[in-house]
Amino acid sequence: MSNKGFTLWFTGLSGAGKSTLAQYLTPILIERGVKVEVLDGDEVRENLSKGLGFSKEDRDTNIRRIGYVANLLSRNGCCAITAAISPYASVRNEIRDKTVAAFVEVFVHAPLECVEERDTKGLYKKARAGEIKNFTGISDPYEAPENPEVLVDTSKESIEESAQKILDYLASQGLLPA
Ligand code: ADX
Repeated sequence: MSNKGFTLWFTGLSGAGKSTLAQYLTPILIERGVKVEVLDGDEVRENLSKGLGFSKEDRDTNIRRIGYVANLLSRNGCCAITAAISPYASVRNEIRDKTVAAFVEVFVHAPLECVEERDTKGLYKKARAGEIKNFTGISDPYEAPENPEVLVDTSKESIEESAQKILDYLASQGLLPA
């Protein structure tokens, strides 16, 4: 059994499918003998980052905290899956550089029209109405990764296909137990 840890860093718009994909992959990875912890954006904001808002400064703090914990977990043989929007490329790259174990950036892409149409939490409607300020993709920036290790498009792929792309990449890097 391998104990090679790694960070699986999901980034993408709200509603793109980061949390869904993280939840879908978790039992598959566990079944393969990988230890997994998920650091989900919404959950982290209820605990580790309680009280932080959505200014650039607060988002950067939130992401640095997630990156810090993901580094601790992954350097100890765990797969740390993070599922936060993480809209700013510079902080994502800073974390990539600080992470001791392998850092796998997964761009969970779906066009804005698509996530807006899904509007799983009803927040895009509120953002369009001006009830939520600085909403990523509407009134706040999202900087897509230029060279992610894996790109999935949840508007075109099934969850099985997106998950398989990620698993194939991990296998190609020797990150999954044989
Ligand atoms: S991040 O920018 O700091 O990475 P994070 O992933 O933790 O964001 O939180 C995003 C979630 O917070 C969204 O999925 C949404 O449910 C909620 N949210 C509330 N306000 C905003 C906002 N202004 N922009 C984006 N998401 C928001």
